[in-house]
Amino acid sequence: MSAPRRKQLMPLPALSCLALLSMAGAVGPGELCQIKMNPIKDRNQANCTRLGLSRVPSQLPKDTGILLLGCNHLVSVSTSSFQYLPMLVDLDLSHNGLKAFHAVPALPRLQELVLSHNALGALPSLQGLPALLHLGLAHNSIQDLAPGAFRSLGELQELDLRGNQLRRLPKEAFAGLAVLRNLDLSNNPREELPLGLLSELEALEVLRLLGNCLPFQRIGSFPILAYLRDWITENEASIYYQEDGLEKVMVENDAESVRCDSPAQYRGTPVLYFTQSCRKADIDPSTTTL
Ligand SMILES: *[C@@H]1O[C@H](CO)[C@@H](O)[C@H](O)[C@H]1NC(C)=O
Repeated sequence: MSAPRRKQLMPLPALSCLALLSMAGAVGPGELCQIKMNPIKDRNQANCTRLGLSRVPSQLPKDTGILLLGCNHLVSVSTSSFQYLPMLVDLDLSHNGLKAFHAVPALPRLQELVLSHNALGALPSLQGLPALLHLGLAHNSIQDLAPGAFRSLGELQELDLRGNQLRRLPKEAFAGLAVLRNLDLSNNPREELPLGLLSELEALEVLRLLGNCLPFQRIGSFPILAYLRDWITENEASIYYQEDGLEKVMVENDAESVRCDSPAQYRGTPVLYFTQSCRKADIDPSTTTL
């Protein structure tokens, strides 16, 4: 019989961005970054996560393709800091308290930009990032999107706007995103979902609206509900319900999880259950039209 293996189940400390702060002051920026080949992406990766940096390192290898700068103190960043890295395709600036991001001059090769968990109060100007495929803006404080805000990002496939402060979206908010496949608008205090908002998104496969009360009461609800219902019907396989458990996040395919919040008599009714005339099907077709 083998000796029982010693198993130490220590509670993991909460992941914190503060871990290595005290070490970083003494050396030049960038010197502590871990440089290695990322075998999956087949690019050189500089990991400068959690080094207490307040400036972008200026002495990374010229062939850096992936630059991880998460959990630092980069309050304002301009793409000028990355001009010496012509191979850069992935840039992670999450968890920095970032208040400003300037995309001038251009980074014509950048494909992935993660600005999540920062303090952006508005959408940064995104000109100069023509090759971007993935843009992460989750958990900032963005309140508005101008019409055509993403128009310069014609190649964008994934846009993550979870956990912002978006209340009203102009109908053309996503205009020009012709190849966008994945859009996450979860956890925004949205009050409207304008008709036509998604109409230009011809390639959209997944729309996430989790953690929102669907906003039907504010405007002429009928066309929106009908529009949403039709969209759900056509895209049933792409609608997911997500439950944040203690240990894991459960994601299930469930088109019925999109439910009405108001008016009160329909609260909790799946949007799918409404008929073409937007009366609730089966139950009582004579009830008030929404
Ligand atoms: C980057 O470095 C941090 C801190 O050392 C580490 O926790 C993280 O796993 C690294 N990330 C990658 C992708 O290697």
